[in-house]
Amino acid sequence: MVEKGVDIAPANGKLGILLVGLGAVSTTFVAGVEAIRKGTSNPIGSLTQMGTIRLGKRTENRCPKIKDFVPLANLDDIVFGAWDIFHDSAYEAALNAGVLEKSQVEDLREQLESLKPMAAVFEQNYVKRITGENVKTGKNKMELAEQLIADIARFKEEKGCDRLVMVWAASTEIFVTASAVHENLEAFEKGLYDDDANIAPSMIYAYAALKSKIPFANGAPNLSCDIPALTRLAEDNNVPICGKDFKTGQTLMKTIIAPGLKSRMLGLEGWYSTNILGNRDGEVLDDPENFKTKEESKLSVLEHILQPDVYPELYKDFAHVVRINYYPPRGDNKEGWDSIDIFGWLGYKMQIKIDFMCRDSILAAPLVLDLALFMDLAQRAGMKGVQEWLSFYFKAPQTAPELYPEHDLFIQLMKLKNTLRHLQGEDLITHLGLEYYD
Ligand SMILES: NC(=O)c1ccc[n+]([C@@H]2O[C@H](COP(=O)([O-])OP(=O)(O)OC[C@H]3O[C@@H](n4cnc5c(N)ncnc54)[C@H](O)[C@@H]3O)[C@@H](O)[C@H]2O)c1
Repeated sequence: MVEKGVDIAPANGKLGILLVGLGAVSTTFVAGVEAIRKGTSNPIGSLTQMGTIRLGKRTENRCPKIKDFVPLANLDDIVFGAWDIFHDSAYEAALNAGVLEKSQVEDLREQLESLKPMAAVFEQNYVKRITGENVKTGKNKMELAEQLIADIARFKEEKGCDRLVMVWAASTEIFVTASAVHENLEAFEKGLYDDDANIAPSMIYAYAALKSKIPFANGAPNLSCDIPALTRLAEDNNVPICGKDFKTGQTLMKTIIAPGLKSRMLGLEGWYSTNILGNRDGEVLDDPENFKTKEESKLSVLEHILQPDVYPELYKDFAHVVRINYYPPRGDNKEGWDSIDIFGWLGYKMQIKIDFMCRDSILAAPLVLDLALFMDLAQRAGMKGVQEWLSFYFKAPQTAPELYPEHDLFIQLMKLKNTLRHLQGEDLITHLGLEYYD
């Protein structure tokens, strides 16, 4: 049965992408979009730009590109804004990040230099290892939120944007759990006036986005909008939100391999993961309190995919260790090692070793693009609150409180594509396929 589909407002005019943090990921993302617009590169790694979607029966041969199937903003209609605690333009920040070759950054110098960060909302207690000068001051956290709201309105006006989205790509904050001040909007707003220590800068940005009715995607593991006060505000204001923590590198590999092991009913004794990286992210994560936030996000993945409760003979009590070591010589070119101890028929042991010599920001940049475009689509389609269909992009997907997150990359992809089919009134694909043999 073909569904009716959903009314989606057209993607007319300019889309402003507001980046919190203008570091390695953000500058690699902006430089990439500029290079693609110039025609010197392809959007490799971006599902919205390169991915296709099968529609109807396999015999129908309908398989358009996703960007031709749903009305996404065009890359030429994107404008960028950012906040950072450093004054560096995207050009200087890209050179500092050292992800892209200098000649490539020089080619894009004009576009990158024009992106200068607005002053940030920052609190040293939440990110221990870095200190910058480009930081807002105010008499309390509510005043800082109001300054961000004013930044957003000014940016929209000056750049002539029709719509905006905000993506958190700033440093990972220290580990905090939700407490009374996060419980509802009243407590949260009182906390902003009272300068409550439990309100992190990332929550202030999320609050400013939601008050301004712009979608907020959280690329880091810190809570940000994953608190009852802000998920409720998102629903009340009809704004989509999603998070947490871009799924790149080692966790991407984990969510590719673990579903395969489970599909074949192979057991797991232990999974040891270590990373060496030398960028600023690595430096921030070298602090135990900041690492704790990342560790929580990375650890949850295997438990959910392997379901030890359902398969105790295969997965009960497997050991899972994750380490990140800051090692400057590697810069952004992280090395992720996995040593996986599995067992098969009659309990015989086997080992898998993965050495992923990856480039963190090269993997993350296309996710920023896809998330910005899909969040803008979601808002035009009237979707609000947590966007679980975007779990595909996250290490620790945000869900409704009563649900466990789906981590299996392939289920996540099916969910994402079925959501797009649903929006456009196409049949959902179940892969049952019995009708071909009737
Ligand atoms: N593959 C990846 O690179 C990847 C994957 C998953 C998650 N992440 C997360 O994305 C974030 C960005 O990663 P990165 O490699 O670009 O890090 P980075 O250190 O290069 O950039 C982060 C930037 O955020 C700025 N910043 C910190 N606090 C801020 C604040 N309150 N307001 C505005 N700016 C602030 C810093 O000055 C820095 O320029 C990190 O939290 C990281 O853990 C990255």
